[in-house]
Amino acid sequence: MFFNLLGSLFSRMCVASGRRTVITAAAKEIQDTKVSSFRTMDSYPPEHDINNLNRIYTVPETITNLLMPGVPHEMKKQIKIFHEFSILIRKPAIELISYLEQTDYTKCINKYVLYGKLGAGKTITLLHLIHYGLTRNFVIVYLPWVANWFRFPKVVVQSVSNPDKLDLPEEVANWLKFFKCLNEMTLSQLDLKVSKEYTWSQRESTNCGDSLFSLIDFGIQRTKFACGVVHALLDEIKTASIAGKCRTLVVIDGFNAFTAERTVVRDENHVYVTPDRMSITSAFFDIVNYNWCNGAVILTVDTRADNERKKSIYPVCLLGKKGFEHLDPFLPICVENYSTEEFQTILKYYEDRKWIRDISPQAQKEWEMLCNKNPREIWNFSKPL
Ligand SMILES: *[C@@H]1O[C@H](CO)[C@@H](O)[C@H](O)[C@H]1NC(C)=O
Ligand SMILES: *[C@@H]1O[C@H](CO)[C@@H](O)[C@H](O)[C@H]1NC(C)=O
Repeated sequence: MFFNLLGSLFSRMCVASGRRTVITAAAKEIQDTKVSSFRTMDSYPPEHDINNLNRIYTVPETITNLLMPGVPHEMKKQIKIFHEFSILIRKPAIELISYLEQTDYTKCINKYVLYGKLGAGKTITLLHLIHYGLTRNFVIVYLPWVANWFRFPKVVVQSVSNPDKLDLPEEVANWLKFFKCLNEMTLSQLDLKVSKEYTWSQRESTNCGDSLFSLIDFGIQRTKFACGVVHALLDEIKTASIAGKCRTLVVIDGFNAFTAERTVVRDENHVYVTPDRMSITSAFFDIVNYNWCNGAVILTVDTRADNERKKSIYPVCLLGKKGFEHLDPFLPICVENYSTEEFQTILKYYEDRKWIRDISPQAQKEWEMLCNKNPREIWNFSKPL
C-alpha cells in the first residue's frame, strides 16, 4: 500500500530528463535577484515577528560557518546542496524571540523547554534562536546533542577532580573549541576576566584577572583538564552575568540525556553508568539552575536522547521526576509538524533550489499525507525524487 502510493508519486514527480543528482541541483547557480514571495530578505532575527511567519530567511554566511559544527548531519547536507542555510520562520521561534525581547533580565532566568515529535523541527528552531542570540550579543552556551557524548565517547577516564566521576576529555575539549569560535566576537568585545584562581596541577593554574580566553585555551590544549575547565567556564559566565557584565543564552539540545536512567558508557565492572557519574553533567545542571540573572535557558527534550523513556514526547515524561523538579518552573513550547501553509512554502523552496520540480497538486496531496507534514520526513522523502 505504502509502496504503491510511493510509486505513483514518483512516476508523477520525476520528469523524463533522467536522474537528478546532487550535482545538478548544486551546479545551478543562484540567479534570482528579485525576491520570491516565500522568502523574506529580513535576516535579522530580532525583527522576526508574525509578519514574517511562513517565510524563509537566509542565515548570513559568517553566522552559518560559526553554527556549522552544531548543525545535524542531514541539515549540513542540505546547506551544501542548496548553497545557503535557510530557515523557515515558524511560530515557536517567533514566540520565543518575542519573550526574549520582552524579558526583564534583572530577574532570575526564564527557562523554556521545546518538545515535539521526532523531526518536527526542534533543532532548527534552536538554531534560529542562537542566530537571534548572536545578533543580540549574548554569550551562547550551545550544547548540541549531548546524547552522543554518552553513547560513543572516544575516551572515558577517571575524573581528575573527583575520583568517583568520569571525564570525557576529547568531546569536552572539542566543545570548548566550538564554544570559543561561536563566541569569539562577543567575548572579544566584552573582555571578560576570570574572577578567581583555579589550580589545575602543581605547576598549572589560571589566575584571577586572566582573560576568559586563556581559561578556554587551557582546556583546549590540556584536554586532561577540559571537564574542569568547563565547570570553571560556566561558573565564570554565570558570575559575569549576575554582575551585569554580559547576557547569556543557554541552549541545550536533547537535555533529557542528562536526566536519563543510564548512559551507554560502562564502568570498570561493565555496568552502564548513570548520567550523573559523568563529571560534565553537574556543570550543565548548574547552568540551568534558577539562581542567576541576565540570561535565559532554552532546552529541547527528545525521545532519541534517552534509551528508556520513549512512551511520550512530553517534558514531564522525558525529564523524569528529578529532571522535572530541577527545571521547574519552565515554559513548555510545542514544535509541531508543518501546517499546510508551511508545507507549501517548503515545496516552493525546494522547487526554487531545483531540488524538486513539476509536482502536480495531486502528488503534493499524497506527499503531504505520506509525510504527515513532518519536516524531516518531507526532506527524507524528497531525496530520491
Ligand atoms: C507528525 O509527524 C510524525 C512523523 O510522520 C507523525 O508520526 C505524527 O503523527 C505527526 N503529528 C501530527 C500531529 O500530525
Ligand atoms: C527515510 O526514508 C527511508 C525510505 O524512503 C526510510 O527507510 C527511512 O526510515 C527514512 N528515515 C527517516 C529518518 O524518516
